[in-house]
Amino acid sequence: MAKTLFEWDYSDYPGAKTYPHLFKPIQIGNLMIPNRIKYAATEDNLNGHDGFVTDAGVEYMRQRAIGVVGGLCYMQGVYMDEKRQGQGYIGQAAAWDDKFIPGLKRIADAIHEQKAVAGFQLMDCGRVGAVETDYCHGPSAVPQRLRIFKPVEEMSNADVKQGPAREDGRANPDESPQRSNQRRRRNEVGQRRPYTVVAAGQVVPHLMREQDQQQRERERQAFQQLRRFA
Ligand SMILES: Cc1cc2nc3c(=O)[nH]c(=O)nc-3n(C[C@H](O)[C@H](O)[C@H](O)COP(=O)(O)O)c2cc1C
Repeated sequence: MAKTLFEWDYSDYPGAKTYPHLFKPIQIGNLMIPNRIKYAATEDNLNGHDGFVTDAGVEYMRQRAIGVVGGLCYMQGVYMDEKRQGQGYIGQAAAWDDKFIPGLKRIADAIHEQKAVAGFQLMDCGRVGAVETDYCHGPSAVPQRLRIFKPVEEMSNADVKQGPAREDGRANPDESPQRSNQRRRRNEVGQRRPYTVVAAGQVVPHLMREQDQQQRERERQAFQQLRRFA
């Protein structure tokens, strides 16, 4: 029997008349969601540099939750590694330790207060990640085509399952010395590639049209205001 977290009546909603299917309930797993709207996970860079959620981050998600009128509301992908491998943004939230749970719960509570269904995402940014580390990692050492990204270290299947890299340089206790050296050589080749900027979030301005950059700057300033009052 699916669980209904929140009851919604859309009979007064103009959108429900125009898009009746969108406002029909849907069962996902054991949850009954009152409509088919989802706010897709988006990094907001509003968290502390230590990965802890801030008041501004909670407020941002509360406002997103209002917009889904009872649907799914996903907070940004969180990084899962103490050494910050796979971190993609400076202000990204973390969840590599239970100490982050109270902050993440504040976001879930803020979403639930708006009678929306909260979700979050465990994220590894792979070869477009690396904020604090001088390399990024991925399932192969194929570098990113954009030069701003850092050299890629190849992960083994065991790495992918186990997460953080080992101190002895081997991908896992069973990796042969030949394989380990091969991986290291590939990574060294990768490291000769020049790069200039460290975080994916910083790439964007160079690629945007001027009017978009101005718009982005206005939004950035508006958020700084929000942080000031948070
Ligand atoms: C600033 C920004 C941050 C994003 N962060 C995430 C993220 O943390 N996790 C994720 O799965 N997708 C992320 N995305 C992708 C969005 O969730 C979404 O899939 C994408 O923007 C395409 O949807 P759209 O066509 O409605 O924009 C991000 C997108 C943007 C623009």
